[in-house]
Amino acid sequence: MTAALSVRGLVAGYDGVPVVRDIDLDIGPDTFLAVVGANGAGKTTTLRAIMGLCDVFAGTIELGDRSVGDARTSARVLAGLALCPEGRMVFPTLTVEENLLTGAIAGQAWAGRSDALARVYAVLPRLAERRGQAAGTMSGGEQQQLAVGRSLMSDPRVLLVDEASLGLAPVMVDQVFEILASIHASGTAIVAVEQNIRISTVATEIVVLEQGTISERIPAEDVGHGLHEAARAAYFGTGAH
Ligand SMILES: Nc1ncnc2c1ncn2[C@@H]1O[C@H](COP(=O)(O)OP(=O)(O)OP(=O)(O)O)[C@@H](O)[C@H]1O
Ligand SMILES: [Mg+2]
Repeated sequence: MTAALSVRGLVAGYDGVPVVRDIDLDIGPDTFLAVVGANGAGKTTTLRAIMGLCDVFAGTIELGDRSVGDARTSARVLAGLALCPEGRMVFPTLTVEENLLTGAIAGQAWAGRSDALARVYAVLPRLAERRGQAAGTMSGGEQQQLAVGRSLMSDPRVLLVDEASLGLAPVMVDQVFEILASIHASGTAIVAVEQNIRISTVATEIVVLEQGTISERIPAEDVGHGLHEAARAAYFGTGAH
């Protein structure tokens, strides 16, 4: 089987200084991978490296059969990668629909924007109801839905999601995770980095990132059988909590 996304020996960081090292990830077309780790573990850096948004010092990044490690970010988007960034970064004075359209400006995606809008509104009906509302006046949970919707506008094969749960009340966290689960069920591979271990209720695989390297891998067959406790233990470390 060709992996949807394959990362090998990735070393990446900023200003000549590595922050993450020896990152290997295999994302199949059906994978929902959760990358959990504490503040500063290197979660965002890993996603930024995959998108070509920080310094990469070593390693390979393949999307399907294609090596994209040297490609521009926009080319990676056209090849099937998309990032829903940490902090949502919606444009507060633009409407929901205008925000969504900013997710379709890369290359030929613009020509298909009407279909893309219809697709996103079908997955996220709340956005359809609010299409004319200024994004800055929506709740945190709604803004997170908008950020996810915008990243779906390019119809990615692999969606990278950075801390979708950040700052949300527990009930909203579960709602956002359910949305990611439904996107996964509709055929999009997902890599979700999270501090919130509840992501293990929807993920198919989990890796734990500690101080820039992967310290633990919990395979699909062990997720969903209560063994996300193992991730919790690995995440918090021996003796803590
Ligand atoms: N633009 C940058 N320039 C220099 N160093 C950076 C930059 N962004 C992040 N770092 C450093 O890289 C390390 C990892 O940061 P990163 O943002 O990847 O962690 P994270 O796991 O996403 O944390 P959080 O859960 O707080 O979002 C930190 O030590 C951070 O200070
Ligand atoms: Mg981060």
